[in-house]
Amino acid sequence: MIWEDDNRAMAQAAMLVLLMLALCTAAASAAIVEHTFKVGGTNINQLCMNSVIYTANQELPGPTIEISEGDTLVIHAVNESPYPLSLHWHGVYQLRSGWNDGANKITQCPIQPYGGKFTYQFNVTGQEGTLWWHAHSSLLRATIYGALIIKPRKGPSGYPFPAPYEEIPILLGEWWNRNVDDVEHDGYLTGLGPQVSDAITINGMTGDQNSCKGSSMYEVEVEYGKTYLLRIINAAVNVELFFKVAGHTFTVVAADASYTKPYDTDVIVIAPGQTVDALMNTTAPAGRYYMAAHIFDSKTVSIPFDRSTATGVVKYKGVPDYAPAAMPALPRHDDVVTAGKFYWSLTGLARPTDPVVPTTVDHNMVVSFGLDQAPCAPDQTKCRGFALVAAMNRNTFQFPDKVSLLEALYKGVPGVYSEDFPDFPPPVPGFRKATAVKKVNYNDVVEVVLQSEEYSRALGTENHPIHLHGFDFFLLAQGLGRFNPAMKSRYNLVDPQVRNTVAVPAGGWAVIRFTANNPGMWFMHCHLDAHLPLGLAMVFEVLNGPAPNLLPPPRVDYPKCRR
Ligand code: C2O
Repeated sequence: MIWEDDNRAMAQAAMLVLLMLALCTAAASAAIVEHTFKVGGTNINQLCMNSVIYTANQELPGPTIEISEGDTLVIHAVNESPYPLSLHWHGVYQLRSGWNDGANKITQCPIQPYGGKFTYQFNVTGQEGTLWWHAHSSLLRATIYGALIIKPRKGPSGYPFPAPYEEIPILLGEWWNRNVDDVEHDGYLTGLGPQVSDAITINGMTGDQNSCKGSSMYEVEVEYGKTYLLRIINAAVNVELFFKVAGHTFTVVAADASYTKPYDTDVIVIAPGQTVDALMNTTAPAGRYYMAAHIFDSKTVSIPFDRSTATGVVKYKGVPDYAPAAMPALPRHDDVVTAGKFYWSLTGLARPTDPVVPTTVDHNMVVSFGLDQAPCAPDQTKCRGFALVAAMNRNTFQFPDKVSLLEALYKGVPGVYSEDFPDFPPPVPGFRKATAVKKVNYNDVVEVVLQSEEYSRALGTENHPIHLHGFDFFLLAQGLGRFNPAMKSRYNLVDPQVRNTVAVPAGGWAVIRFTANNPGMWFMHCHLDAHLPLGLAMVFEVLNGPAPNLLPPPRVDYPKCRR
């Protein structure tokens, strides 16, 4: 345990006061929380360069949304950028509000550039913890993202751990010295995907870099002898990260907005799309301490990657700014043992009130996926030799262009998608381009063995963070190599991690199980953004249940597709 007994007594006293306060202010009534997000050009000086980036409300990271469980969130999105875009609320269930999921071409067509508008409105019920939001089109999420924090309805007494003294959001990001839409487009032309980033960021800042002295650096002041809750989000576009704070250790208490059993560690490992909540006690000698993040490179073949380290500072109150800071020793970039230990050690808190793992399964699926080499397309003018392509069960996902999949489902528009996404990898070579969905009934239980494949020796494999929209899943087991049914004996059906994004080990597997209790079209894809346009995606079509488990009609301002 990281908290001492007298701290606990104090915490209990504090909790009592808060509880009384909460009762007086009748926290029981859910609020409507409203924001306007204007996406537009922002001048920024980063890595000693002036650039124009696209942000929400001129902020990098974008605004933090803070709500209590049960609140309704209303976001008026105004797109003043030159790019069509949508905003996704990553990890929010969107129970019967699938029109608001913000998955471009899946649940909506993009909000038009130069002034297009759309209002997202949904309840956030039955989940608490750290989530986030991001643009869901092109590489724009590199600069259009922010934290979405859901507090317990009861206030801090609702945490299943002593209430922290303060909370510190840590958004890890990835920075390019170029317009990111150009980076994406160029990646298409070369057929090799986006070039590697120029820096990793902590709360939008790179910290000290050899390439640019005096870069802006995130700094947080702490008091001695307190417990802080770090809400860590990997908003990086294409890379997994190691994160440490010199002189301090963590107790992980949640991941992807689901509580975990307390897990003590001195390093956080986090894949794009994931979040980790970690308690940190400030009991080090008063001083300045660097926090640092750099890439965990899981690739089995060596391909260049961004080797820079992002830094920030934890400064104890009263310590002068010029005091030297200690740097943490991050794991080696290829330290797959440290990464695996972290990813595999977490377990769900599994309180009596938490959902239990469903024991009967209606759909047993094996979904294999990976990257391969394909001939260059004629319009890939910078392509030399081969272009990258990806697939799930040999289906290279194609985005529809005339109408979103959800609108096609709701209105019965024919010819937009096919319902023949295979339950198992077909025993045929080659990939098929298709907008294929897997259809399931309301409340069906779906189990998916996610199997990472090496389709090409030259490309090897890597960890793919597979993200499911619309649901959390139980992560029953994971392993290296090839899954076989004997491995079912390794399933944790008691207290598995509950997540929305799992980093499937390179060339290995992970088994997830979820109840399809939410009608709609739900994207499942690799959260390495580079793999999305390559086709590393599929969609679950979940049919309406008995009333009231129906998808309501879309809002009047629901964006239309334009080509
Ligand atoms: Cu965070 Cu479909 O994404």
